[in-house]
Amino acid sequence: MPRVAAYPVDPLFVDRWSPRSFSGEPVPDAVLLSIFEAARWAPSASNAQPWRFLLSRRDDPAWADFTSLLQPRNALWASAASALILIVAERQVERRGEIVENVSRSFDAGAAWANLAHQALLLGWHTHGIGGFDRIAARQRLAIPEAFAVETMVALGRAGGLDGLHPDFHALEAPSDRRPLDQTVFAGRLGTPAFPAERSAA
Ligand SMILES: Cc1cc2nc3c(=O)[nH]c(=O)nc-3n(C[C@H](O)[C@H](O)[C@H](O)COP(=O)(O)O)c2cc1C
Repeated sequence: MPRVAAYPVDPLFVDRWSPRSFSGEPVPDAVLLSIFEAARWAPSASNAQPWRFLLSRRDDPAWADFTSLLQPRNALWASAASALILIVAERQVERRGEIVENVSRSFDAGAAWANLAHQALLLGWHTHGIGGFDRIAARQRLAIPEAFAVETMVALGRAGGLDGLHPDFHALEAPSDRRPLDQTVFAGRLGTPAFPAERSAA
C-alpha cells in the first residue's frame, strides 16, 4: 500500500521508508559524498555540528567489525547492506569560551541523519536506522573516544527483492503508517487540540 499524506507535503517525506531487503551492490563514492554532504548542512545548536560518521562499505576491512556489533536479529538483514554507518556525537561544545555539555547532541545528530536518509532516497538508495547493536563493543572495536557518544547505526543500500531476505521479515517489508496529527500536535499542553477536528483528521 503506498503511503498517503493527510496534508500536502513533498512526496520525499512519505516515500522514504526503511526496507530490510538490500541488494548488497557496491555504493558509489558519489552517492556517499552526496548523502554526507546533505547531512553536513543540518542545523545544530551553536552550529556545533556534533555528528561524526564512521563508514564501512561491505568490502572494507572494517566490515566484519561493523557487522559483529549488530544484534543477531538485525544482522540477519543488515549484513546485506552496501554500507553501514555508525553515527557518533561529540558530548561537549564551546559556548562563550566555556566548554559545556552539549545537551542537544542527539537531537542534532538526528537532524543530520534525516538529511542523509532523504538525500539517499533522492539518489535511489535506501537507509534503515539501527538502534539494536552493541554500543560498548562499538566503542572498543572502533576506538571511539569517550568525548563522543555512540548514537545509532544506519544501513545503506539499494532495496532488493524478498528472495534474499530471511522469511521472518517478509511480512514487515512494507512501508508503515503514522499516528495522525491530532494525536501529535497540541495547543500549548499535551491533550489540547491544536486544530479544529475536521481539519486534523487523517
Ligand atoms: C534510531 C533508530 C533505530 C532503529 N533501530 C532499528 C533496529 O534496531 N532494527 C530494525 O529493524 N529497525 C530499526 N529502526 C527502524 C524503525 O523501526 C523504522 O524507522 C520505523 O518503524 C518507521 O518505519 P519507516 O522508517 O519505514 O518509515 C530504527 C530506526 C531509527 C530511526
